Amino acid sequence: MGKNKLKKFAEMERMENVVQCPRDILLSEGFPLKGHWNDNFFHAPRPITLELGCGKGEYTVGLARQAADKNFIGIDIKGARMYTGAKDALDNKVENAAFLRTEIELIDNFFDKDEISEIWITFPDPQMRKVNKRLTSTRFINAYRKIMPPSGIINLKTDSPFLFEYTRRLATLNNLEIIEQTSDLYADGRDDALTQIKTFYELQWLSRGKTIKYISFRIGDNPLQEPDTEDLEKDDYRAVPRFNPAEHSMI
Ligand SMILES: C[S@@+](CC[C@H](N)C(=O)[O-])C[C@H]1O[C@@H](n2cnc3c(N)ncnc32)[C@H](O)[C@@H]1O
Repeated sequence: MGKNKLKKFAEMERMENVVQCPRDILLSEGFPLKGHWNDNFFHAPRPITLELGCGKGEYTVGLARQAADKNFIGIDIKGARMYTGAKDALDNKVENAAFLRTEIELIDNFFDKDEISEIWITFPDPQMRKVNKRLTSTRFINAYRKIMPPSGIINLKTDSPFLFEYTRRLATLNNLEIIEQTSDLYADGRDDALTQIKTFYELQWLSRGKTIKYISFRIGDNPLQEPDTEDLEKDDYRAVPRFNPAEHSMI
């Protein structure tokens, strides 16, 4: 591991807005903030929004700046990316933003029933071949339901036509209330958090001329079925390497 990453990790251990809990301790002893994030961490009873696979946490910090009446937690497994958002929030006293370093698959160990009111999923890997790893699949929606009420909202911002259409079909098939959807966000002439806040990956996709898609829907509570995807075209541009390979390490 590079010196720079080691330095970031040492600093992150001391950052009061970063929470890390080793998997073995989490699973054997539980997590003390579960059900108590507002009382014991934020010290303010406000609805909590998560950003899953937050990377550098642009939405976590950006939305926190715009909505002082909510608390925000960015979740990612990669600490070096998260450091950027955590440092921004600390340096600029954005006190309603925090970061949790863990696997998304473990979220119900960190949050209690109905503790979360909204989730943002920003530019995830569409996982075109592995439905169980897709962050808007029935597997994950069922996991989110363990920590959100049926009125809870999922927001997906993506470059991927495949993931956008898959998620649209999943919501439609399961009668989940779609609040908003657009297959070309920047063509709509809007000027709000959706267009003002751009993530690191989003900027890469925009620079390659990709259109950005957005869909939001309520999570509901009826039994879920996977949509049919046999006729769904796979994104044809993902095989091309885009970034510095160092960005892809699991740390
Ligand atoms: C394609 S990047 C997008 C990052 C950021 N949202 C953006 O738009 O710039 C996906 C991110 O999700 C994280 N990630 C993927 N699967 C994860 C998982 N199962 N648990 C935690 N983080 C995950 C990766 O570490 C990575 O930072």
